[in-house]
Amino acid sequence: MNLKKDKILITGSTRGIGLALLRKFHSEGFTVYGTGTNRTSIESAQKVIPNVRYFVYDSKETSLESLAKEIEINEINVLINNSGIQYNDSFEEEGDLSDRMRKELEINFLFPALLIHRILPVFLKKENSKILNLTSALSFVSRKNVLMYSSSKAALSRFTRSLALQLKEYKNIQVVEVIPPLVATDMTKGRVLKGTMSAEKFASEFYRSYQKGKKEFYIGKTGLLHLISKFSGKLAERIVR
Ligand SMILES: NC(=O)c1ccc[n+]([C@@H]2O[C@H](COP(=O)([O-])OP(=O)(O)OC[C@H]3O[C@@H](n4cnc5c(N)ncnc54)[C@H](OP(=O)(O)O)[C@@H]3O)[C@@H](O)[C@H]2O)c1
Repeated sequence: MNLKKDKILITGSTRGIGLALLRKFHSEGFTVYGTGTNRTSIESAQKVIPNVRYFVYDSKETSLESLAKEIEINEINVLINNSGIQYNDSFEEEGDLSDRMRKELEINFLFPALLIHRILPVFLKKENSKILNLTSALSFVSRKNVLMYSSSKAALSRFTRSLALQLKEYKNIQVVEVIPPLVATDMTKGRVLKGTMSAEKFASEFYRSYQKGKKEFYIGKTGLLHLISKFSGKLAERIVR
């Protein structure tokens, strides 16, 4: 199978991990398409990667429909659901968190699932298609102050694995969970520790797993962390604290 024929849509690819993935796949000769929430973020990404087509997509029903129409889903055979946000919220604090709670669940879980539902009929008819969802080690290890984030990623993780099971009979479609380690991006600003991975290194490791056709991508030390969490949840919690 010639992987380089893949035509890939990467959501949330104006910066951070998404932009690094877009650049990596583009430099390897793939056809890639990106998304950003607005023209300004798209224009700033296009300064880094001028020859890539971007679409506005901001996790709303109307935006999802116009993305689906504009990109002509027939054109792509790989979807990388990368868009995500993270708030650091303490539930002990007073104040209305409802908007932020809803946004985290929608952007990190509901809209990736809705986008998949929208494209699936087309993907099932393709000779070869892939759906890759970026979750997080926080989907299986608890960390305080990221309650909704962890919950949304746990939901996306379970959704991804259940969908892979549901589509097992189809040999032409692969559904993959990608578990990134701590990567230095806007999302993790101020939390960068020794050993934090750069977005470029992440993209290279992701690409290696992609080439190998792995069914799940544990990037960096997340595989080890997953194993530790099976034996001692407490130890895993101390590691991500
Ligand atoms: N960084 C880490 O350590 C880490 C670890 C585990 C998992 N992850 C996951 O990896 C993914 C990428 O993270 P990152 O660190 O690269 O984040 P980031 O640097 O904050 O970038 C987030 C991307 O998501 C887009 N986005 C934000 N709000 C959106 C919305 N409402 N609708 C659609 N797209 C939206 C942003 O677009 P604009 O530029 O237009 O705002 C941007 O392109 C996320 O799913 C994150 O949860 C990250």
